[in-house]
Amino acid sequence: MLKLDQHPSGRHFLHIPGPSPVPARVLRAISYQTIDHRGPEFGELGLKLLSGMQTIFKTKHPVIIYPSSGTGAWEGALVNTLSAGDLVLMYETGHFATLWNKLANRLGIKTEFIGMPGAEGWRHGVDAAKIEERLKADASHQIKAVCVVHNETSTGVTSNIAAVRKAMDVAKHPALLMVDTISGLASADYRHDEWGVDVTVSGSQKGLMLPPGIGFNAISPKQLKQARQRHYQEHIGLGMRSSSLIRPAIGHQPQQLTYYMVCMKL
Ligand SMILES: Cc1ncc(COP(=O)(O)O)c(C=O)c1O
Repeated sequence: MLKLDQHPSGRHFLHIPGPSPVPARVLRAISYQTIDHRGPEFGELGLKLLSGMQTIFKTKHPVIIYPSSGTGAWEGALVNTLSAGDLVLMYETGHFATLWNKLANRLGIKTEFIGMPGAEGWRHGVDAAKIEERLKADASHQIKAVCVVHNETSTGVTSNIAAVRKAMDVAKHPALLMVDTISGLASADYRHDEWGVDVTVSGSQKGLMLPPGIGFNAISPKQLKQARQRHYQEHIGLGMRSSSLIRPAIGHQPQQLTYYMVCMKL
């Protein structure tokens, strides 16, 4: 039988790297009554949250909110930007970098998974010099994106994203930079615009201290241009467009969770 919050030692306090314990004022917001999810009040709320998220990602550009896990937001980043058969450079720093790589392969994206040999790979963050070297060798620009994990939850190692950007610039390579900061956002320093990231992937359940169930993609103008030329998955994301035809999935989870976000004073 599930124990939920009935623990003999008192109130349950979750001690894992995420999901994080949810603050009481956020928990209380769960009891708010549902509002019309296609009505003007929700529209106003949605816009407020979208602009609040820009502050957290440190970006002036759009942030997409998905009714998804972090894994769903990984997928959103890949499918809105790349096509099956595209080549992507991914860097192995631990369990989550490995899972993102596997997901890309399931979507038909070809990956080169580089890193330090053997167990050393999981003891270090991203070595930007390795990325620079590989991109310099790609004279015909076959590599369409570089994907790295900012804070590798499985090892606790945080990587230097500014150094990765610099390596890509030194190599003069046009690949997009995609970063997973699912456990880094609001826990560690993160700067989407300043670090020149094209897609930042994150989730609700770690540094933001919300329940799991919302995913985010912060994007750049370069990514947006590329995404608009493609078959677009916009119906699942709140933030791209809302109309009677494209009805973002803002059902139970996102609506109640956006209340939590209001409580965070976004
Ligand atoms: C760095 C990182 N990436 C991705 C994920 C996957 O997120 P989710 O479990 O919400 O799919 C996690 C979850 O722990 C994570 O820590």
